[in-house]
Amino acid sequence: MCGIVGYIGKRNSLPVLLEGLKRLEYRGYDSAGVAVINSDSDIIFFKKAGKVKELESEFNKDLLNGNVGIGHTRWATHGEPNDTNAHPHFDEGRNIFLVHNGIIENYLSIKKKLSLEGFSFTSDTDSEILTNLVEYHFRHKNDFEVAVRMALTEVEGTYGIACICKAEPDKIIVARMGSPLMFGVGIDETIISSDAAAIVNYTKNVIYLEDGEFAVIRKGGFQLKTIKDEHIMREAQRIEYDLAEIEKGGFEHFMLKEICEQPESIQNTYRGRINFDTGLVKLGGLETVKDKLLSAKRFIITGCGTAWHAGLVGEYMLERYCRVPTEVEYASEFRYRQPIINSDDVVFVISQSGETADSLAAMKEAKRLGATTVGIVNVVGSTIAREVDAGTYIHAGPEIGVASTKAFTSQLMSLALITLMIAQNKGTIKERELDEMLRELKMLPDKIRQIIEKHKEYEFVAEEFKDSRNFLYLGRGFNFPVALEGALKLKEISYIHAEGYPAAEMKHGPIALIDENMPVVFIAPKDSTYDKIISNIEEIKARKGKIIALANDGDEDIKRYSDYIIHVPRTAPIFAPILNSIPLQFLSYFIATARGCNVDQPRNLAKSVTVE
Ligand code: AGP
Ligand code: GLU
Repeated sequence: MCGIVGYIGKRNSLPVLLEGLKRLEYRGYDSAGVAVINSDSDIIFFKKAGKVKELESEFNKDLLNGNVGIGHTRWATHGEPNDTNAHPHFDEGRNIFLVHNGIIENYLSIKKKLSLEGFSFTSDTDSEILTNLVEYHFRHKNDFEVAVRMALTEVEGTYGIACICKAEPDKIIVARMGSPLMFGVGIDETIISSDAAAIVNYTKNVIYLEDGEFAVIRKGGFQLKTIKDEHIMREAQRIEYDLAEIEKGGFEHFMLKEICEQPESIQNTYRGRINFDTGLVKLGGLETVKDKLLSAKRFIITGCGTAWHAGLVGEYMLERYCRVPTEVEYASEFRYRQPIINSDDVVFVISQSGETADSLAAMKEAKRLGATTVGIVNVVGSTIAREVDAGTYIHAGPEIGVASTKAFTSQLMSLALITLMIAQNKGTIKERELDEMLRELKMLPDKIRQIIEKHKEYEFVAEEFKDSRNFLYLGRGFNFPVALEGALKLKEISYIHAEGYPAAEMKHGPIALIDENMPVVFIAPKDSTYDKIISNIEEIKARKGKIIALANDGDEDIKRYSDYIIHVPRTAPIFAPILNSIPLQFLSYFIATARGCNVDQPRNLAKSVTVE
């Protein structure tokens, strides 16, 4: 999920690799590493936890002198960010060196098989397993290209890879499945990368690999093939945009890029965790505390800001489907109010960064009081991830925009997976309902794509309301926390005052605020709360508030009550908050940009709040 670079040509490869790695630094990373084939065909490598600068300052550059090399910046998914887990990875005999982005889902079964063949491993990564699998096939076939192809047909999951071989030092092999990879074709040289940012300084002619393709790149040229060994002809494309644009993948802001990444980030959250044949959900990181989860008398969920909102949705999920009493606590309050916690409680800590001081402190307090602590974290190897008793990574990929978007929806997906896993094991969910959910889950990435395609509609609504001074967001049930999150997003990046409420709570006070200048966003999916929500809409309408309704596709009746309608696809109630959040993310994004606000770095905010 982070960065790959590679060079083959006439120059010394190291400066190209290091410059490329630095260009990929904007995504954040945990470690960096390079491997270069020297003139006497030896592969020399250096890798280290931390920034590229740290890597650079600690090794003797004269040792890495050759014109074929690969490099990597890591965004850990398997194993802590330390020197050993840094890429490139290699086999014991140091024949194959490989850098990998993505997740090899079946790495444990491959590891077992290779262990029986006498292979040994030093890191905790899935990538090292793939490296050894290539070496395994190389030993049998004595052909680097065949070995890579055979290995790739065995792995499940996602990868972008660049790979070199001591026995065949004249080439780099690259491949792609679900993780970007491209190479720039210069004069007598090729620059490989997962991101055009590392290439444009050398050439603007780029070949993009598609899923299931790989390329053998030599000094004199390249061959593009499918993993099944079919030849492919493809012209290089010219990239015309500048570096800043490339870093954002052509999007104007990281926030917009991250909103649009959600079809993939959601899939990465559930990938490899559901057996669609048996319907069983398995979360590897929670196996050690599974008994505790199944016997818990009470769940407590804690976090801050957006993570706390995700927790509120989690409460609805866990109580409805697992029948376990669940409480949601602001992490910052939890530790100071002398909470009553005992050893039958499981405390979930939700955090994108895994470094939020309040959440960390709440987790420590829960642990001190004897509860089992479970992390729901994005950044692998972060403090919270390390200190909890067990945890599940949400695998949303690096989130750079300060306003959390894709991490929120992946937190919701993780909570849904935890809920389903517990409910299945306790027998608190009906089989029919579960089947229906799994069917819906498979369709989620496509439904998110449909939502993204309609961005012009959200932009239109944003234009109408960009000068409003206040906003209300209302929802019920699973979608009440979505209202809170919608309001938070707007506040954070547009500086418009916004509040979220349970829709029925309006009449107990906030309704006094309603007049013709007050836009009110209603989250009104066709679920069991629909009729009640319509009554709440009527109450606002009668007081001349402006209604923006988020309704399901095909719901035309709601037109009667609303000034603006945003249609979203229908899904199972447990996943509705995921879909419904996305138009609201867009709405705040477009309002903020229309007001000229800096959406990626809103005033007064920090991505990760590491102070109390
Ligand atoms: C989200 O848009 C916010 N910037 C903020 O509320 C954030 O969710 C909160 O600070 C928690 O951060 P964490 O998930 O990294 O712990
Ligand atoms: N899964 C690999 C790891 O954890 C690759 C991560 C990445 O994409 O940077 O090392």
